[in-house]
Amino acid sequence: METIKVNIKHAFNRVSERDIEALLPEVLEAKRHLLEGDAAGNDFLGWVNLPEEIDKQELARLKADVARLAEKSRLLVVIGIGGSYLGARMVIEALQSEFASMVRDNQPYIVYAGHTLGEDYYNQLLELLDREDYSVCVISKSGTTTEPAVAFRIVKAHLEKKYGKKAASERIVAITDARRGALHDIAQQEGYPAYVIPDNVGGRFSVLTPVGLFPIAMAGYNIDRLLQGARDMRSICHGNNTLEENPALMYAAVRNALYRKGTKVEMLVSCQPNLRYLAEWWKQLYGESEGKSHKGLLPHSLSITTDLHSMGQYVQDGERLMMETMLRVRRPNTTVAVPTDEKNLDGINYLTCKSLTEINDCAAEGTIQAHVDGGVPVVELSVDKIDEYTIGQLIYFFEFACGVSGYTLGVNPFDQPGVEAYKRNMFHLLGKPGF
Ligand code: PA5
Repeated sequence: METIKVNIKHAFNRVSERDIEALLPEVLEAKRHLLEGDAAGNDFLGWVNLPEEIDKQELARLKADVARLAEKSRLLVVIGIGGSYLGARMVIEALQSEFASMVRDNQPYIVYAGHTLGEDYYNQLLELLDREDYSVCVISKSGTTTEPAVAFRIVKAHLEKKYGKKAASERIVAITDARRGALHDIAQQEGYPAYVIPDNVGGRFSVLTPVGLFPIAMAGYNIDRLLQGARDMRSICHGNNTLEENPALMYAAVRNALYRKGTKVEMLVSCQPNLRYLAEWWKQLYGESEGKSHKGLLPHSLSITTDLHSMGQYVQDGERLMMETMLRVRRPNTTVAVPTDEKNLDGINYLTCKSLTEINDCAAEGTIQAHVDGGVPVVELSVDKIDEYTIGQLIYFFEFACGVSGYTLGVNPFDQPGVEAYKRNMFHLLGKPGF
């Protein structure tokens, strides 16, 4: 089985192999907490066995709802914020054409709402929805989050005006708590098909529940392969107790070793633009899980080579705060070679017949060398290629490593008390009763 490989040799400019190996007892203890559920946050460990325990009947019902809605929709509006949309968006954007909105016509195109309160965004969305047949997937675990609630009210009113109340209700799917919350009550009263986010799965760990699976399947991707990748990575993460054999333990150990040597920022570096939402999902996963008690690496991201022309200077020469985690993809899904040009006026004939992957790989190698020389440790993660299976592996790998890393850091990786502060102030300013 192809798996994720972690190469730490470019991190030795800040930590030694011994520093990393010395963390083995701590990461093993953290792993034990995840498997035995005997530490803080143990009521949010449902994701640990999710790929194995997925309810087959619910999966079949989900696929049937996807088929029913896909037939009559050119667009699916996914309404959700944070963990309620980033996982699905990460998978869809990694797999679809960068120009999907222009070139796809046999599968619904996914648009997003509820992740912003930008007024122009909603006017532009409504203009689009005037023109296209669409359905709605509204996602909120609590069922009470303001941004998706506002978006759902706006989009639902549009949908009901466009199709009538009954036909509109046949175009809505709700994903929420099994028993509580305003969205749960609306779905019950209006008779929308509903799917449950398990109580013991937090938002940022929910991509392998209907939260991610429904939109991903609507976009036409194979959720069985995604789940298989996650299952296989789960076996690797649960079954191996050495850093060499367990990539999640190695990644958790090296980032904690670097943190203890004064590293403050971790930049997830990807070499292709379709992985930018993988970085957004990863930022939420690690930022919300570890950023507490005034601790934790600040997650940031870079895209090679795009950002080398903006952030490259800082990374090379600015404050020595950061490490990089570079995600390498060994095989591209398609190739494009540089054509020959007899006149060679642009002077790039030395690249003739090279594929863009060969050029990009040289850019990545050159970047690693330059950044390491400049004092930035680089951890390389590599996967064979980008498809549903490897993304499933990446999801489980990053989730498991996050749990291990958070416990090793000494925080509860599964709460997010800091997220409430802005809400209290906003509710007060908006005059919400009780605030
Ligand atoms: O990870 C989390 O818990 C958060 O990012 C939530 O997913 C986000 O706040 C949305 O919450 P809800 O799904 O309850 O609307």
